[in-house]
Formats: sequence, structure tokens, C-alpha cells
Amino acid sequence: MAKTPLGALILTSDFLFLFIVYTFSLATAKSHHFSRTLSPTNLGLKKEKLSHLHFYFHDIVSGRNPSAIKVVLPPNNASSTGFGMVAMIDDPLTVKPEISSKLVGRAQGIYASASQSEDGLLMAMNFAFMEGKYNGSGLSVLGRNVVLLTVREMPIIGGSGLFRFARGYVQARTHTYNPKTGDAVVEYDAYVLHY
Ligand SMILES: *[C@@H]1O[C@H](CO)[C@@H](O)[C@H](O)[C@H]1NC(C)=O
Ligand SMILES: *[C@@H]1O[C@H](CO)[C@@H](O)[C@H](O)[C@H]1NC(C)=O
Repeated sequence: MAKTPLGALILTSDFLFLFIVYTFSLATAKSHHFSRTLSPTNLGLKKEKLSHLHFYFHDIVSGRNPSAIKVVLPPNNASSTGFGMVAMIDDPLTVKPEISSKLVGRAQGIYASASQSEDGLLMAMNFAFMEGKYNGSGLSVLGRNVVLLTVREMPIIGGSGLFRFARGYVQARTHTYNPKTGDAVVEYDAYVLHY
């Protein structure tokens, strides 16, 4: 066999190098695609299911450690409903009506007085759960809360963790309200479709 000239060897290794670079860039190009179609099983999604969660929401506005604080006061006293008020909340969610019962999560977000004719709140909050397998998963709720109604329904517009692709609704019922302090305990039932 004839000896391979050195020049040919260098040329071959250069081609090999270029070939590897080209193949590698083809393989990684996928991750630069802006969009692609996936099957739900690609994300490990199985069958959609319906879950019911039940807990108590503690809206503490009084005392030294309130969990709800007004961050915007209504500009004037024109409306008896406090229209324009905005409060930020980090309200504990417990398994029983007592605040000392097991903490299952927190409701973090805002509520704002959005009605000039009744006690109607805009609620925009995330339930951050910390109980069992739900620890670290969350639900996002956005809805209208007319607090004097026996049952208020608000949409669940999404979720994270075990609640990815969540949709559903919550029903809120006032369990106790202290007119002196303004503190309230609200019972929540959440019905949520997720995978
Ligand atoms: C307006 O609201 C403030 C705070 O609640 C209250 O102290 C004041 O008396 C009110 N003014 C009128 C005119 O109602
Ligand atoms: C929830 O998860 C956090 C972070 O992974 C962990 O520190 C915490 O102990 C967990 N809580 C419960 C109740 O399992």
C-alpha cells in the first residue's frame, strides 16, 4: 500500500473536524427552534383529573402581625364601599378553621375594592401549597368576590407544579367575620382539573 502523504492526512482530519462541527450544530439547532408541536406524553402528562381541595383562609387585618395590609387607601370618602382600596395579602391557609391547625399553604396576592355600589373585591392571588405532595405547587385565582354573598365563585386560571395546565373554580364562604377587628376566616373549596 502506498504511504498516505502528510498533506492528505491533514486534509482528512480537517474534513473530519468540519463534519463533527456540522453534525453537532445540527443536533443542537433543535433547541433554538422558536416553536414546535409536542404530544402531551412528551411532557409526562397522563390523564386529566379533577381534584377537590378544602381549606380555610385567614385574613388578619388587625394586631401586630397582620397578614393583609392596605397599600392604597381610597382617594376620598366618596364611596361607602371603599372603592379604590388595594390590599396586599400573605394569608395563611389551614386545614381547619382554627389558625393553630395545620398550615397547608398561603394565599399571596392582592385584593382591591372594585365596585362603587357593593362590597365587591377584585382578587388576584396565588395559593402556594406546602402540604405533602402539593408542597411547592400552586394555583392562580383571579376573580370577583362580593364578600357579603354566602358563596362567591372565582376562576382558577392556572397552576404550577402538580397543577400545571390547571383550570377550575373556587367557592369561598365566610366562616367567621369579626366586625370589631375586621379579621375574617373564609372557607375555600377548590375544584381543579389538572394532570
Ligand atoms: C374619611 O375616612 C377617614 C378614614 O376612615 C375618616 O377618619 C373620616 O372621618 C372620613 N371623612 C368623612 C368626611 O367621612
Ligand atoms: C416543602 O418543601 C420545602 C422546600 O423543598 C422544604 O424546605 C419544606 O420542609 C417542605 N415542607 C413540607 C411541609 O414538606
